[in-house]
Amino acid sequence: MRIDIITVHPELMESPFRHSILKRAQDKGLVEVNLINLRDYALNKHRTTDDYAFGGGAGMVMMIEPIALCIETLKSKNNYEEVIYMSPDGVLLDQPLANKLSLCGNMIILCGHYKGVDERVREHFITREVSIGDYVLSGGELGAAVLCDAVIRLIPGVLNDETSALSDSFQDNLIAPPVYSRPAEFRGWKVPDILLSGHEKNIEKWKYEQSIKRTKERRPNLLKGNNLK
Ligand code: ADE
Repeated sequence: MRIDIITVHPELMESPFRHSILKRAQDKGLVEVNLINLRDYALNKHRTTDDYAFGGGAGMVMMIEPIALCIETLKSKNNYEEVIYMSPDGVLLDQPLANKLSLCGNMIILCGHYKGVDERVREHFITREVSIGDYVLSGGELGAAVLCDAVIRLIPGVLNDETSALSDSFQDNLIAPPVYSRPAEFRGWKVPDILLSGHEKNIEKWKYEQSIKRTKERRPNLLKGNNLK
Protein backbone atom coordinates (compact mmCIF):
# COMPACT_ATOMS: atom_id res chain seq x y z
CA MET A 1 0.00 0.00 0.00
CA ARG A 2 1.14 3.49 -0.82
CA ILE A 3 -0.20 6.42 1.22
CA ASP A 4 0.52 9.93 -0.06
CA ILE A 5 -0.35 12.61 2.47
CA ILE A 6 -0.79 16.14 1.15
CA THR A 7 -0.17 18.75 3.82
CA VAL A 8 1.14 22.27 4.37
CA HIS A 9 2.93 20.96 7.49
CA PRO A 10 4.89 17.86 6.47
CA GLU A 11 7.27 18.27 9.46
CA LEU A 12 4.33 18.00 11.83
CA MET A 13 3.60 14.54 10.48
CA GLU A 14 7.06 13.01 10.45
CA SER A 15 7.31 11.66 13.98
CA PRO A 16 4.36 9.21 14.04
CA PHE A 17 5.79 7.38 11.04
CA ARG A 18 9.30 7.13 12.46
CA HIS A 19 8.48 4.89 15.41
CA SER A 20 7.12 1.56 16.50
CA ILE A 21 4.65 -0.34 14.32
CA LEU A 22 4.30 2.31 11.61
CA LYS A 23 8.06 2.42 11.14
CA ARG A 24 8.31 -1.36 11.10
CA ALA A 25 5.55 -1.60 8.49
CA GLN A 26 7.52 0.72 6.21
CA ASP A 27 10.83 -1.04 6.90
CA LYS A 28 9.20 -4.34 5.94
CA GLY A 29 8.03 -2.76 2.68
CA LEU A 30 4.36 -3.37 3.53
CA VAL A 31 3.45 0.30 3.23
CA GLU A 32 5.10 3.37 1.75
CA VAL A 33 4.13 6.70 3.30
CA ASN A 34 5.02 9.92 1.51
CA LEU A 35 4.57 13.36 3.01
CA ILE A 36 3.92 15.82 0.23
CA ASN A 37 4.27 19.55 0.80
CA LEU A 38 1.34 21.26 -0.84
CA ARG A 39 3.39 24.45 -1.08
CA ASP A 40 5.58 22.72 -3.69
CA TYR A 41 2.52 22.90 -5.95
CA ALA A 42 1.68 26.56 -5.29
CA LEU A 43 1.41 28.71 -8.38
CA ASN A 44 3.29 31.78 -7.11
CA LYS A 45 6.74 32.39 -5.71
CA HIS A 46 5.33 33.03 -2.24
CA ARG A 47 4.12 29.42 -2.27
CA THR A 48 0.61 30.54 -1.35
CA THR A 49 -1.96 27.79 -0.89
CA ASP A 50 -4.85 29.73 0.66
CA ASP A 51 -6.93 32.77 -0.24
CA TYR A 52 -9.89 34.82 0.96
CA ALA A 53 -13.35 33.32 0.75
CA PHE A 54 -15.64 34.63 -1.97
CA GLY A 55 -18.63 36.24 -0.34
CA GLY A 56 -16.62 37.23 2.73
CA GLY A 57 -16.52 35.61 6.14
CA ALA A 58 -13.72 34.93 8.55
CA GLY A 59 -10.90 32.56 7.67
CA MET A 60 -8.92 31.64 4.62
CA VAL A 61 -9.80 28.88 2.19
CA MET A 62 -7.38 26.34 0.71
CA MET A 63 -7.22 27.10 -3.01
CA ILE A 64 -8.16 24.57 -5.64
CA GLU A 65 -5.26 25.12 -8.04
CA PRO A 66 -2.31 23.82 -5.94
CA ILE A 67 -4.43 20.90 -4.72
CA ALA A 68 -5.57 20.00 -8.24
CA LEU A 69 -2.01 20.17 -9.54
CA CYS A 70 -0.71 18.05 -6.67
CA ILE A 71 -3.40 15.37 -6.93
CA GLU A 72 -3.18 15.20 -10.71
CA THR A 73 0.61 14.93 -10.60
CA LEU A 74 0.33 12.03 -8.16
CA LYS A 75 -2.38 10.36 -10.24
CA SER A 76 -0.26 10.60 -13.37
CA LYS A 77 2.31 8.35 -11.65
CA ASN A 78 0.20 5.97 -9.54
CA ASN A 79 -3.26 4.51 -9.31
CA TYR A 80 -5.26 5.40 -6.22
CA GLU A 81 -8.38 3.78 -4.86
CA GLU A 82 -9.18 6.59 -2.48
CA VAL A 83 -8.59 10.32 -2.20
CA ILE A 84 -9.53 11.05 1.39
CA TYR A 85 -10.14 14.51 2.83
CA MET A 86 -9.66 14.86 6.59
CA SER A 87 -12.44 17.06 7.88
CA PRO A 88 -14.58 17.38 11.03
CA ASP A 89 -17.68 17.05 8.87
CA GLY A 90 -16.58 13.76 7.33
CA VAL A 91 -17.76 10.25 8.22
CA LEU A 92 -16.61 9.24 11.70
CA LEU A 93 -13.62 6.90 11.66
CA ASP A 94 -14.44 3.56 13.27
CA GLN A 95 -13.02 0.03 13.16
CA PRO A 96 -15.12 -1.17 10.18
CA LEU A 97 -13.91 1.81 8.14
CA ALA A 98 -10.30 1.15 9.17
CA ASN A 99 -10.74 -2.51 8.18
CA LYS A 100 -12.12 -1.50 4.80
CA LEU A 101 -9.35 0.98 4.09
CA SER A 102 -6.69 -1.57 5.09
CA LEU A 103 -7.77 -3.63 2.07
CA CYS A 104 -7.30 -0.66 -0.21
CA GLY A 105 -4.50 -0.30 -2.70
CA ASN A 106 -3.02 3.17 -2.72
CA MET A 107 -4.58 6.24 -1.19
CA ILE A 108 -4.10 9.97 -1.08
CA ILE A 109 -4.98 11.81 2.12
CA LEU A 110 -5.53 15.56 1.94
CA CYS A 111 -5.16 17.44 5.21
CA GLY A 112 -7.48 20.44 5.48
CA HIS A 113 -6.59 23.72 7.15
CA TYR A 114 -7.97 27.19 7.76
CA LYS A 115 -11.71 27.32 7.03
CA GLY A 116 -11.49 24.27 4.77
CA VAL A 117 -10.88 23.62 1.09
CA ASP A 118 -12.57 25.16 -1.91
CA GLU A 119 -15.76 23.11 -2.26
CA ARG A 120 -14.85 22.17 -5.84
CA VAL A 121 -11.96 20.07 -4.49
CA ARG A 122 -14.47 18.04 -2.50
CA GLU A 123 -16.80 17.72 -5.45
CA HIS A 124 -14.27 16.71 -8.07
CA PHE A 125 -11.28 15.05 -6.40
CA ILE A 126 -12.33 13.57 -3.06
CA THR A 127 -13.72 10.04 -2.82
CA ARG A 128 -14.28 10.03 0.95
CA GLU A 129 -14.28 12.53 3.81
CA VAL A 130 -13.18 11.26 7.20
CA SER A 131 -13.41 12.77 10.68
CA ILE A 132 -11.66 11.35 13.74
CA GLY A 133 -14.23 12.75 16.15
CA ASP A 134 -16.78 15.43 16.85
CA TYR A 135 -14.35 18.19 17.72
CA VAL A 136 -12.38 20.61 15.60
CA LEU A 137 -8.61 20.23 15.24
CA SER A 138 -6.33 22.95 13.91
CA GLY A 139 -5.76 20.90 10.80
CA GLY A 140 -6.20 17.46 9.31
CA GLU A 141 -2.63 16.31 10.02
CA LEU A 142 -3.17 14.69 13.40
CA GLY A 143 -6.36 13.11 12.10
CA ALA A 144 -4.48 11.73 9.11
CA ALA A 145 -1.86 10.24 11.44
CA VAL A 146 -4.61 8.57 13.48
CA LEU A 147 -6.26 7.21 10.35
CA CYS A 148 -2.95 5.86 9.04
CA ASP A 149 -2.15 4.19 12.35
CA ALA A 150 -5.56 2.51 12.53
CA VAL A 151 -5.24 1.29 8.93
CA ILE A 152 -1.57 0.33 8.68
CA ARG A 153 -1.61 -1.96 11.73
CA LEU A 154 -4.30 -4.02 9.99
CA ILE A 155 -2.28 -4.70 6.85
CA PRO A 156 -1.41 -8.43 6.89
CA GLY A 157 2.15 -8.95 8.09
CA VAL A 158 2.44 -5.63 9.93
CA LEU A 159 1.76 -7.08 13.37
CA ASN A 160 3.97 -9.97 14.40
CA ASP A 161 1.13 -12.04 15.73
CA GLU A 162 -1.51 -11.74 13.05
CA THR A 163 -4.28 -12.62 15.43
CA SER A 164 -3.52 -9.69 17.70
CA ALA A 165 -5.31 -7.17 15.47
CA LEU A 166 -8.30 -9.49 15.40
CA SER A 167 -8.48 -9.48 19.19
CA ASP A 168 -8.40 -5.67 19.37
CA SER A 169 -11.28 -3.85 20.93
CA PHE A 170 -14.03 -3.10 18.41
CA GLN A 171 -13.12 -5.89 15.97
CA ASP A 172 -16.18 -7.85 17.04
CA ASN A 173 -18.11 -4.84 18.33
CA LEU A 174 -16.84 -5.67 21.81
CA ILE A 175 -14.35 -3.88 24.04
CA ALA A 176 -11.28 -5.97 24.86
CA PRO A 177 -11.22 -7.70 28.29
CA PRO A 178 -8.85 -6.51 31.04
CA VAL A 179 -5.27 -7.81 30.85
CA TYR A 180 -2.70 -8.47 33.57
CA SER A 181 0.97 -9.30 33.80
CA ARG A 182 3.44 -10.22 36.54
CA PRO A 183 3.49 -9.96 39.51
CA ALA A 184 0.40 -12.00 40.29
CA GLU A 185 -0.03 -9.87 43.40
CA PHE A 186 1.00 -6.24 43.95
CA ARG A 187 0.20 -4.42 47.21
CA GLY A 188 -2.44 -7.03 47.84
CA TRP A 189 -4.08 -6.34 44.45
CA LYS A 190 -4.52 -9.75 42.91
CA VAL A 191 -4.79 -10.96 39.35
CA PRO A 192 -8.09 -12.88 38.96
CA ASP A 193 -7.54 -16.54 39.92
CA ILE A 194 -9.04 -17.79 36.68
CA LEU A 195 -6.17 -16.29 34.65
CA LEU A 196 -3.65 -18.24 36.74
CA SER A 197 -5.62 -21.49 36.56
CA GLY A 198 -4.14 -22.71 33.28
CA HIS A 199 -7.62 -23.84 32.24
CA GLU A 200 -7.74 -22.48 28.71
CA LYS A 201 -11.42 -23.02 28.01
CA ASN A 202 -12.55 -21.34 31.21
CA ILE A 203 -10.11 -18.50 30.62
CA GLU A 204 -11.54 -17.86 27.14
CA LYS A 205 -15.06 -17.93 28.59
CA TRP A 206 -14.05 -15.45 31.30
CA LYS A 207 -12.46 -13.12 28.76
CA TYR A 208 -15.56 -13.18 26.60
CA GLU A 209 -17.83 -12.46 29.58
CA GLN A 210 -15.56 -9.60 30.64
CA SER A 211 -15.71 -8.16 27.13
CA ILE A 212 -19.49 -8.21 27.17
CA LYS A 213 -19.65 -6.73 30.69
CA ARG A 214 -17.27 -3.90 29.75
CA THR A 215 -19.07 -3.16 26.54
CA LYS A 216 -22.43 -3.03 28.34
CA GLU A 217 -21.00 -0.68 30.95
CA ARG A 218 -18.92 1.57 28.73
CA ARG A 219 -20.17 1.42 25.15
CA PRO A 220 -23.65 -0.15 25.10
CA ASN A 221 -24.19 1.31 21.61
CA LEU A 222 -21.71 -1.25 20.24
CA LEU A 223 -23.87 -4.16 21.40
CA LYS A 224 -26.77 -3.23 19.15
CA GLY A 225 -25.22 -4.95 16.16
CA ASN A 226 -24.35 -8.09 18.15
CA ASN A 227 -27.65 -9.62 19.30
CA LEU A 228 -26.26 -9.98 22.82
CA LYS A 229 -28.47 -9.48 25.86
N1 ADE B 1 -9.66 18.53 10.77
C1 ADE B 1 -10.14 19.33 11.73
N2 ADE B 1 -10.85 18.66 12.63
C2 ADE B 1 -10.84 17.36 12.23
C3 ADE B 1 -11.41 16.17 12.74
N3 ADE B 1 -12.14 16.16 13.84
N4 ADE B 1 -11.19 15.02 12.05
C4 ADE B 1 -10.47 15.03 10.93
N5 ADE B 1 -9.91 16.12 10.40
C5 ADE B 1 -10.08 17.28 11.04
